[in-house]
Amino acid sequence: MNTKDAYDNWAESYDIVDNPTRSLDEKVVRTLLIDLEGKDIVEAGCGTGKNSVWFAEKGKSLKAFDYSKEMLSLARKKVINNNAEFSLQDITILWPFDNQICDLVSINLILEHIENIDFVFKEAFRILKPNGKLFICELHPSKQEKGSVARFTDDSTNTEIKLVSYFHSKKDFQNAGKSSGFKSIKLQDWYDETCENIPRLLSILMTK
Ligand SMILES: C[S@@+](CC[C@H](N)C(=O)[O-])C[C@H]1O[C@@H](n2cnc3c(N)ncnc32)[C@H](O)[C@@H]1O
Repeated sequence: MNTKDAYDNWAESYDIVDNPTRSLDEKVVRTLLIDLEGKDIVEAGCGTGKNSVWFAEKGKSLKAFDYSKEMLSLARKKVINNNAEFSLQDITILWPFDNQICDLVSINLILEHIENIDFVFKEAFRILKPNGKLFICELHPSKQEKGSVARFTDDSTNTEIKLVSYFHSKKDFQNAGKSSGFKSIKLQDWYDETCENIPRLLSILMTK
């Protein structure tokens, strides 16, 4: 199953079934991205909108996109603020925004599905205003090395679907950021409350 079809399929249960990666990402965003007043935000791969709710509530405006129609339709229902716009868009194709239109680009739990991350960093850099921030939070490379990938149970067939996944090391993220022109790059490991031996998530904050 290709990744888009998988997410269309997963959408119905995505918010309902327990998912420690999704829950930790939610916590990370609400811990690190708190100074959003007056900010224009772009969220790439917004999924069912768990972070879109936060961005629309705290920021000045939100443009969120995803290429899964089913995930996006849940996000549209979840976010009631009229400062939010949603669009169907593939992150690997030129983003439909002018240069320097936002203060923050947030990308959460998508890049494991993207082979060429350099393009994504370049697009984020292009649409950010000077001193704008790119925030990324992804399944930790150490978790990926242990075989962890995004997966869900397809209820119609009761089979586990593992999604297509690409490995990106900390160095890959840093190199993609530097070669796109970002000047400050801060990485942070995030652990589950119960399991402290391998970090679950890696967050990256870059400044244009
Ligand atoms: C694990 S979900 C995360 C959703 C949301 N960011 C969150 O943190 O809850 C990954 C999302 O990335 C989207 N996605 C994957 N590949 C994409 C692509 N090439 N273009 C746009 N969206 C993509 C999927 O449709 C899905 O909604």
